[in-house]
Amino acid sequence: MSDPVFITNVSVARMDGADGAYSLLRQAGLRIEGDRIAWVGPMAEADPAWRGQEIDGGGRLLTPALIDCHTHIVHGGNRAREFEMRLQGASYEEIARAGGGIVSTVSATRAADEQTLLDAALIRADALIAEGVGTVEIKSGYGLDIETELKMLRVARAVGAQRPLRVVTSFLGAHAVPKGKTADAYIDEVCIPALEAAHEAGLVDAVDGFCEGIAFDATQIARVFDRAAALGLPVKLHAEQLSNMGGTALAASHGALSADHVEFATEADARALKAAGSVAVLLPGAFYTLHETQKPPVAAFRAAGVPMAVATDWNPGSSPMGSLLLAMNMGCTLFGLTPAEALAGTTCHAARALGLKDCGVIAPGMRADLALWDVEAPAELSYGIGINPLYRRIHGGRA
Ligand code: NIG
Ligand code: FE
Repeated sequence: MSDPVFITNVSVARMDGADGAYSLLRQAGLRIEGDRIAWVGPMAEADPAWRGQEIDGGGRLLTPALIDCHTHIVHGGNRAREFEMRLQGASYEEIARAGGGIVSTVSATRAADEQTLLDAALIRADALIAEGVGTVEIKSGYGLDIETELKMLRVARAVGAQRPLRVVTSFLGAHAVPKGKTADAYIDEVCIPALEAAHEAGLVDAVDGFCEGIAFDATQIARVFDRAAALGLPVKLHAEQLSNMGGTALAASHGALSADHVEFATEADARALKAAGSVAVLLPGAFYTLHETQKPPVAAFRAAGVPMAVATDWNPGSSPMGSLLLAMNMGCTLFGLTPAEALAGTTCHAARALGLKDCGVIAPGMRADLALWDVEAPAELSYGIGINPLYRRIHGGRA
């Protein structure tokens, strides 16, 4: 066990106020024992015996380490050609229906060996770590066959083993329909057996899907979710990204951890998410990349009291974005979030979107996953564009 650490002279955004408010404590200190937060409070109340083990915070801002709760950072190849096509007027859906899109990344991911996928994923993970990220969710979904879905999830676990980073996996077999199969046949003959095999191998923390005209409808997703429930796995869903297909309502009816994208969600969807205790995960990088104009119903989420998370959705097609701080900035500028909502969206509410109860807020007993920033006010984290004010990251109590 590592020696206790006492961080002095910091402003602490504890993120444990009502609805994820900053709950800012100025002139504060924080004591770490092992991998946990042992104490947080005003410097004036700190135990003098802790002196001698301190890190001088120098008046900086201390927050929970950030949590990127929606990524696809394990993948082969890139889709810069589709970027060029969209700039010439082609839409994401047109490219997908013409055989590009997700299935082109499937070919590249199937062709890549495990080490190649891991090397590329580690570079992406390092970019997130450099911005104070302590937990990342990583999805499968570019295999669409049993072997490659498992390969992707093994690589995701290896990222967590090779870096000081907590990795949470989501099985996303229901991401796209591979060539040569109907959607129904794919779900029953490949996706569900792949889920069972991946679960058996201990590779699945949650089950995801893509409910959309270019992917799967709500009845097909429901079959995957029923299997997830039978295996005791939580679910989440890419829902209402390009149209309203009833995905958010389906996710809520299955008690999902989250519904993600949700640009086309309605007020009734917001109420359903609230009743289910689900988080709305906003992905401004995909909104921006796809030139989307329909914004997620932030006012309805606020009115209903739905917690909102913010994530990068880092993937090679709809969101080639390697910065969670930029996602926070875009959440504010494009979707109208407040900087406080954006920070809650990458800390306490992101933890909830992953079903994690031991991180995302600063309180005694929580994991000591922390980020120390060279800023005075929390709003500065969302305000900068392409600016990284991280001073130091602490992971599992290790500075
Ligand atoms: O979250 N919407 C579906 N899935 C991904 C996009 C994946 C891709 O285009 O490769 C998303 O945006
Ligand atoms: Fe996604």
